[in-house]
Amino acid sequence: MTNKEKGDANLFKRLSVFVMVRIYNLFKPVKQEKKTFEDKFEEEIYEKSLKRSDINEHLLTIYRESVETCPKLIVELGVRGGVSTFVFERVAKKCNSTLVSVDIEDCSDISDWENWHFVQKDDIEFAKEFKDWCKERNIAPEIDILFIDTSHLYQHTKDEIKHWFPYLSKNAKVIFHDTNMGFLYKRKDGSYGNGWDNKRGVIRAIEDFCEKKFNEKKEFTDKCKGFEIKHYPYCSGLTIFTKKSI
Ligand SMILES: C[S@@+](CC[C@H](N)C(=O)[O-])C[C@H]1O[C@@H](n2cnc3c(N)ncnc32)[C@H](O)[C@@H]1O
Repeated sequence: MTNKEKGDANLFKRLSVFVMVRIYNLFKPVKQEKKTFEDKFEEEIYEKSLKRSDINEHLLTIYRESVETCPKLIVELGVRGGVSTFVFERVAKKCNSTLVSVDIEDCSDISDWENWHFVQKDDIEFAKEFKDWCKERNIAPEIDILFIDTSHLYQHTKDEIKHWFPYLSKNAKVIFHDTNMGFLYKRKDGSYGNGWDNKRGVIRAIEDFCEKKFNEKKEFTDKCKGFEIKHYPYCSGLTIFTKKSI
């Protein structure tokens, strides 16, 4: 088989799976546990979470976990269509936090909230100048919520941990998305989404940091290097690190 034929076969396979997933999902109604809402932001986020994506089932968790720390400074790495930004903007409004979002692409039109800081830059390059950037704006460079959702690649995630973790405050949480990626990912409501195989890039980088292995296919809690860890396998995986001093 020539390379072109292999490419065509691969494209055909992806297209077929894409169509099959769409048809299969028609028989799986969107199901999000309806809970009582603490505030209007939770309700707005719940409404947002009814639209399926690779992150929709994590939105309320991200909001609640973030609000729990009452963050002063939130740094979001990876904006794209702004689904997570929608959540962090509400956390920031509720807690009067500073929200800094970073993306290598221009995502500046995702929000028109006047207190939102958008930085278009490679996140590793930005980490190197973060202290000066904060100083110029009179912001203490101590991150309470760090959200990591960028390339999902192993070496890049290792670099993000290396360059951003030194800025974590003593009560910080780090929220990693895409810790259980694959060609197909499963949601809690039984539906599937089309993903890609990142060769366990994000979770492997976490394993290296913690110096232990994890089974990202299952829900788990664990501890490592002064952090408590919670992991949710569905919707591409969400892993939350909480500094133990909380
Ligand atoms: C999966 S999307 C983010 C999705 C977003 N968090 C959401 O909930 O809608 C990944 C984003 O990371 C950005 N990205 C990839 N590599 C990056 C890098 N080195 N530095 C900054 N942003 C990067 C991409 O441009 C893309 O917009």
